[in-house]
Amino acid sequence: MRVNVVTMFPGFFEGPLDTSIVARAVAGGQLDVVLHDLREHGVGKHRQLDDTPFGGGPGMVMMIEPLASILAPLESTHRVLFTPAGEPMKQATLDDWSGRDDVTFVCGRYEGVDQRVIDLFVDQEVSLGDYVLAGGEVAAAAAIEGIARLLPGVVGNPDSTRSESFRDGLLEEPVYTRPSTYLDQEVPEVLLSGDHGRIEEWRQTQREERTRERRPDLFENGQ
Ligand code: ADE
Repeated sequence: MRVNVVTMFPGFFEGPLDTSIVARAVAGGQLDVVLHDLREHGVGKHRQLDDTPFGGGPGMVMMIEPLASILAPLESTHRVLFTPAGEPMKQATLDDWSGRDDVTFVCGRYEGVDQRVIDLFVDQEVSLGDYVLAGGEVAAAAAIEGIARLLPGVVGNPDSTRSESFRDGLLEEPVYTRPSTYLDQEVPEVLLSGDHGRIEEWRQTQREERTRERRPDLFENGQ
């Protein structure tokens, strides 16, 4: 699939795109990321991207024309604006995007984006979480990584994407590897028992207890 990214900071994505699973998805041809540099579409000889808000107030607002000139030709793609005012990004959001041929991620900056850009050229507004970042780049990088690992053939064992946290509404259970004792800390006896029935039962209990304690919101939804 293709992911377009509209950003004032294309250099930000060098690390995330060149690392681990995302790099593998790009090298394997499952993922194609196209960076669109907003500055190249700036207005006038100063390549202006932002202006003062009508009605006054602090901060600057991203102008219509640079965004429109990139987003109008991408009308056939699903265009997402990252903003703290959007719906929260969930596993289901990533599942949806990863099933599409093309998505376009718009990284907002400054105090916001002129509302007419959103009304005319954006299909979905999404937030990474209930906190304010300096812009949408971190959210776009998180989304790209979350999508890449869902694309067919990118993660070796498909079970590891299928049976994970959030798919079934539960958090993952704790996991252990060698050594079986470290600073008097023992691995739970059941995991060394070889009894696969008991092990699965223990894991399921751990998932439920963790979810109830840490994420009662998820637990209520799942019941
Ligand atoms: N831009 C600034 N804060 C953000 C957030 N929480 N999610 C997505 N984009 C943002």
